[in-house]
Amino acid sequence: MLSGKHVVLGVTGGIAAYKACEVVSRLRKLGAGVDVIMTANATRLVAPLTFETLSGAPVCVDTFERTGAWDVRHISLAQKADLMLVAPATANLMAKLAHGIADDMLTTTLLATRAPIALAPAMNTGMWTAAVTQENLRILLERGVQMIGPGSGRLACGDTGEGRMSEPADIVAAAQKLLLPVRDMEGLRVLVTAGPTVERIDPVRYLTNDSSGKMGYALARAARERGAEVTLLTGPTRLATPQGVCAVPIVSTQDLYDEALRRAPGQDIIVQAAAPADYRPETVSPQKLKKHGGEALVLRLVENPDVAQAIGRQKREGQVLVGFAAETQNLTDNALRKLEAKNLDLIVANDVTAEGAGFGTDTNIVTLLTRTQAQSLPRMSKDDVANRIWDRALEIRREALQPA
Ligand code: CTP
Repeated sequence: MLSGKHVVLGVTGGIAAYKACEVVSRLRKLGAGVDVIMTANATRLVAPLTFETLSGAPVCVDTFERTGAWDVRHISLAQKADLMLVAPATANLMAKLAHGIADDMLTTTLLATRAPIALAPAMNTGMWTAAVTQENLRILLERGVQMIGPGSGRLACGDTGEGRMSEPADIVAAAQKLLLPVRDMEGLRVLVTAGPTVERIDPVRYLTNDSSGKMGYALARAARERGAEVTLLTGPTRLATPQGVCAVPIVSTQDLYDEALRRAPGQDIIVQAAAPADYRPETVSPQKLKKHGGEALVLRLVENPDVAQAIGRQKREGQVLVGFAAETQNLTDNALRKLEAKNLDLIVANDVTAEGAGFGTDTNIVTLLTRTQAQSLPRMSKDDVANRIWDRALEIRREALQPA
């Protein structure tokens, strides 16, 4: 049930606007409060009175309308919302939202809100697949905007293809998930590793890699939101520690090894998203290295311990171990080899050369591999990838704990 929750529903001028009536009615039946904002074009398709009757509240269209009550309506609605949902969301609305254009009541409210935003796109297939719409979609996904659909099917224009708005029941189910946080990790202790490591050469130089830490931080945040007790072992990153997460900074792979091995036995699930440097300089020069008149500098590197492998060796019954495989070729083969070598239950394989995947981006494209199953996920935000990884890790844990 959604009592106490408030949804601000934006309706834009797509033919699917009539289906938004059912969205309002379903949300109300679940106990949610609903305010509707329509674009001017939407009012040509469905009369505001229909939404007013279904929502039990006046419909807003015009930013400058005088309502009598003194409040700045787009700000008050933006603050009142627990979720901003736009259904249908036209290509035009997506473009405006992606670029911060706020030229009517709906786009102004979307810009002002701090609530999560979900869009149910609806448009002709050509408009949906247009390069500019796909680019806007990428921008919105990267900012954490949730997409509900679109599905495929017969469109109002007679075409058949992608761009059909999701069914009202599915839109409401997705909204419900966003409004009621899942607390299915309460009582679990999880360890997440994140970011690069730094291997000193001398007091002013070091070896490192491109890991931004975003995937590991998203995992830590998601687990915390789902109720877990989270320890985050993190290499140097520019990211803020997610609320409620116990962050332990590490610098080198050896530091990570020491901290992770000490803490591993007490953990229910360990996800290793860090990119520990495989090698370190054999000696760290106490003084800054000097140039030697054109002579080559030979830096001898020695191998670092493999943290995941060491944790895998001491894995205890019922514990779930998840690793990552960042690959540039032979994705599945290499990932499965790592799964075996490190005694992992699940490996998250990603081709770091693909656009929208890997280091530094806000989205990722991954395949979740166990010894017996492969699940390829479409490009999605790292927050969504994180939740899918936890979903799968919890399934594995349930199977492992089931009496044979
Ligand atoms: N890993 C680790 N310790 C290392 C290197 C990697 O614990 N010294 C972990 C990573 O956190 C990741 C997994 O092992 O979960 C795979 O890391 P990756 O860099 O893809 O593989 P490597 O084992 O280093 O193999 P290679 O570099 O040869 O691809």
